[in-house]
Amino acid sequence: MIKEIIDKKRLGEDLSKEELSEIFNGYLNGKVKDYQMSSLLMAICLEGMNYDEIVNLTDIFLKSGEQLHYEDEFGTMCDKHSTGGIGDKTTLVIVPIVASLGIPVIKMSGKGLGYTGGTIDKLESIPGYRTDLTDKEIEEGIKKVGAVMTGQTKDIAPMDKMIYALRDATATVSSIPLIAVSIMSKKLALGASKILLDVKYGSGALVGTKEEAEGLAILMKKIGESYGREVRYILSDMNVPLGRNIGNSLEVVEALNVLSGKEEGKFKDLCIELASNMISMVKKINVEDAKKLAEDAITSGKALNKFYEIVKNQGGDITKLSVSANRYEYKSYREGTIENIDALGIGKLSLSLGAGRESKEDKIDYTVGIVLNKLVGDKVNVGDTLMTLYIHNNNFKIDSNIFEIQ
Ligand code: URA
Repeated sequence: MIKEIIDKKRLGEDLSKEELSEIFNGYLNGKVKDYQMSSLLMAICLEGMNYDEIVNLTDIFLKSGEQLHYEDEFGTMCDKHSTGGIGDKTTLVIVPIVASLGIPVIKMSGKGLGYTGGTIDKLESIPGYRTDLTDKEIEEGIKKVGAVMTGQTKDIAPMDKMIYALRDATATVSSIPLIAVSIMSKKLALGASKILLDVKYGSGALVGTKEEAEGLAILMKKIGESYGREVRYILSDMNVPLGRNIGNSLEVVEALNVLSGKEEGKFKDLCIELASNMISMVKKINVEDAKKLAEDAITSGKALNKFYEIVKNQGGDITKLSVSANRYEYKSYREGTIENIDALGIGKLSLSLGAGRESKEDKIDYTVGIVLNKLVGDKVNVGDTLMTLYIHNNNFKIDSNIFEIQ
């Protein structure tokens, strides 16, 4: 009985695979109601789940939809997943680096529901770029240019879609077991035998501390390994926005700056670290050697060319990428050194400019966003521009605590 299963979890007891299947598949089939599933999710949030429950639930989510097998045709592949954050445009840099070294990459991403839009939104800011490739087009894309960056074609873990929407509405997103199940069921369904996880922590991330991020990463690695996949993880700081540009077209511009060797710094370093791990896993070489290959892909211009090839293959015209001509410069009223730039504050500001969506129906304005003119560690004088807002209206409010200047 559904009520007994919920009660068991409320009392902190473990649920068997049969019990998990009864309630979760019941929800997928419409037999279990929203209020019953909400109650179970809250009990899981408060009481947690043991490892067997987490693996069993991952399996139930995974088998709720299709499982892809592109490796049968194209050989070993590595998939990357980031738990998301403010200014995270790493996919746009990593995929061309890895593909320029002859490693096929099929990167499927979702639309973002959050402060800045997801990878798909960033790609769609390139006029003409198609993110709805069919199976045939994905295969042709790999054969022609070695990589595709597209939306999910199939019904990947549909149970996750339903449960995530409910978690979002019931304040149960932050449960570590539920996050692990949600991410790993989708990654496993996409079929790559190598998986790289970029797990973020900090004010702009799902989890606050590095310890929590590591716990989540270890759990996801263990789940992946139980399916015979090789999984590595990287923990990255999301207290501060990633890179300089936040907002969809602006993030494409920054990715191009990194790929053309014009931008150095923490964002580029993270891209190189992630790309090196993907290369190292697929080519079975050490990370240091893989790093040299990744750096060389940038200095030789191969990665940039690969980006152009991928964009062109998917119908995009990079020459038509545009950012708003209407700008507002936010100046410093103090002198000192920038100690912190609050990622969450920047995320909220970017959402208020129109760069993200609060609900699935919201339309994103690709051309708005923020460029950080100063980064953590920079010295500033009174009147220096700290950030430039690319805007379409004046409905924004800047929180004066975003920049911490000492
Ligand atoms: N990303 C996901 O895909 N699922 C979660 O639960 C959290 C982040």
